[in-house]
Amino acid sequence: MDTRVRNVPPKASAMLEALRGLGYSTADTLADIVDNSISAGATEVHINFSWEGGERAFISILDNGHGMNDPELEAAMCLGEKNPLDERSDSDLGRFGIGLKTASFSQCRSLTVASRKPSCAVSCLRWDLDEIAARKDGVWALIEGPAPDSGSRLSVLDGVSSGTLVLWEKLDRIVTSGYVADDFLKMIDVVETRLAMIFHRLLEGLQPKLRLLINDIPVEPWDPFLTGHPAKSWNSPIARQRTSAGKVEVECHVLPHKDMLSPADHEAAAGPDGWNSQQGFYVYRNGRLLLAGGWLGLGYGRAWNREEAQKLARIRLDIPNSADADWKIDIRKATARVPVYLKPWLTKLAGGYPQQGQKGIRLSRRSSPRSGWSEGRAGVDSGAVQGRNALQGGSLSPGCRSGVRVSRPPVAACKGHAARRRGNRSGAANLA
Ligand SMILES: Nc1ncnc2c1ncn2[C@@H]1O[C@H](COP(=O)(O)OP(=O)(O)OP(=O)(O)O)[C@@H](O)[C@H]1O
Ligand SMILES: [Mg+2]
Repeated sequence: MDTRVRNVPPKASAMLEALRGLGYSTADTLADIVDNSISAGATEVHINFSWEGGERAFISILDNGHGMNDPELEAAMCLGEKNPLDERSDSDLGRFGIGLKTASFSQCRSLTVASRKPSCAVSCLRWDLDEIAARKDGVWALIEGPAPDSGSRLSVLDGVSSGTLVLWEKLDRIVTSGYVADDFLKMIDVVETRLAMIFHRLLEGLQPKLRLLINDIPVEPWDPFLTGHPAKSWNSPIARQRTSAGKVEVECHVLPHKDMLSPADHEAAAGPDGWNSQQGFYVYRNGRLLLAGGWLGLGYGRAWNREEAQKLARIRLDIPNSADADWKIDIRKATARVPVYLKPWLTKLAGGYPQQGQKGIRLSRRSSPRSGWSEGRAGVDSGAVQGRNALQGGSLSPGCRSGVRVSRPPVAACKGHAARRRGNRSGAANLA
């Protein structure tokens, strides 16, 4: 006998309202949108915050990526068009096929996306939660074209050969009761600080892969590891593990003690959440930061906590997007869990930080001085020491001082560097 089935699609309005509660911060949502731009090959992304008296405040994200034609744009606006189980190219920062929508709806009630592929006309589609709620038929009504009076906001696409504009209007989750222009400016500061950290590896270097601008001012990268700083205490050789889900790479860093840094550099190097919070692992997926600090639940028996004594320890951990399932990457790209098979290796690396008189390193009474800085295979020879040790008789091996250049521009300021440029921003954000 045939199995009897019922088709029970969710009601559009109820479903979209429910998805709003995923708990994104504004900075994380913007990072999700910038991820899409990077995956589309964009080299420049402009985020524009416009206050417009509060009532008509909007945020737009414009990229110069390959853009979408009309059917592609329709697919992009659909929830569940892509299967999270599909293999993705190793430059793709997406996974779930819903980030554009869930990130946007966590901030606004109207999401317009306009896009152009080379030699094609601009296509524009819009979700408006109010219009969907007003319908009684529960239909997923995707509207063609921009909102009335918003056509001019799309004009930025006029002169470009390809690219995509994401426009957030009706910012009900940002411009709440009592919210004033100054709050809007403060939020821009927070966003700038977080994006400077999340995308720092793409923004760095003489020829950065990405230029990211907020209200026309370039975002400067914030490097948690003070790469090349003359006072940098130590960094390990790179340790690698090949797993069935791809290669994992780890590099431990000990940052300079306060005495070795200027007050400005010390404050900047602290990071958005301060020295103590920013200690531990920095997990990158395809070069984009997912997690900034914390010890990933690792430890000998009891999980390590963030402690004053380890505040100078920061560990770069790179994972590929082929390992998303193993690392249990969540929809917001804000959490990751260490797969069981990597725990012993990572614990040994983090626990085996150098133990001499350096300040701020993770000490492990139980870890051997041979700390496992090696290449190996998870579960096969994990922890076997094949390469150079980070420690040799309690002192640092010369090889561990790799990557230290003597001349270096001052540390990109983190806390407050956005604030210092607020004068410029307030003009650009139309705060009148
Ligand atoms: N700026 C853009 N340029 C070109 N294509 C885009 C852009 N933004 C989104 N897309 C297309 O829309 C699709 C859906 O985007 P969405 O962010 O919803 O999901 P995803 O990026 O595939 O996965 P995730 O949910 O993990 O972000 C993308 O896979 C991509 O094909
Ligand atoms: Mg995405």
